[in-house]
Amino acid sequence: MTHIQTDRNQKKDDPARLQELIRLAELREELKSMLKPSRFEHSLGVSYTAAALAMKYGENIGKAQLAGLLHDCAKNYDDETLIALCDEHGVVLSEEERNSPKVIHAIYGEYLLETRFQLRDADVLKAVRYHTTGRSGMSLLEKIVFTADFIEPTRKEFPGLREIRTLAFQDLDCCVAEILISTILYLRSRNAHIVSDTMDAYAYFSSLTGRRIHE
Ligand SMILES: [Fe+2]
Ligand SMILES: [Fe+2]
Repeated sequence: MTHIQTDRNQKKDDPARLQELIRLAELREELKSMLKPSRFEHSLGVSYTAAALAMKYGENIGKAQLAGLLHDCAKNYDDETLIALCDEHGVVLSEEERNSPKVIHAIYGEYLLETRFQLRDADVLKAVRYHTTGRSGMSLLEKIVFTADFIEPTRKEFPGLREIRTLAFQDLDCCVAEILISTILYLRSRNAHIVSDTMDAYAYFSSLTGRRIHE
């Protein structure tokens, strides 16, 4: 047991981690002023869930907390305002993205991370950029934020969510495949356009795991 106690003391006095936690607390306050209360609670849920998944899969816990906390930082703007802000600040949107406004908060969110929050970590930026659509070959951190966004505690219950939550802590790639399947089926049921990043992600994770949509 002695070595565990030594590790504990080292963690407590780690100045880098302490700085990271202070910065997280500051960011939480700033984010609170940017989002409506339910969206802020969701963001906290994603942050804590991402931290738990990082512990399980050996990702950097601080990065997971940070990306989870800020992933929806641009969610308070309406669709037209988001497009106008992207145009104003030179954030390039494809034709497809312009026609799928629900994905734009993630793209403008990445821009806000770099500018307003002065964050430069490429992995954290990508995890925010792709948290809605997913993409082929997502990194571990991207998969963690993508999954945490779907399963966090305040997410409204629906059939299959319980199984996906369990799977998240058993096999992350299978869980990502199931989330993509659930998302695609939901979008299809509403006759909504499905962006190519999501279809590419589905092709990638279904071939990796063997989990696919049964037509
Ligand atoms: Fe989002
Ligand atoms: Fe979210």
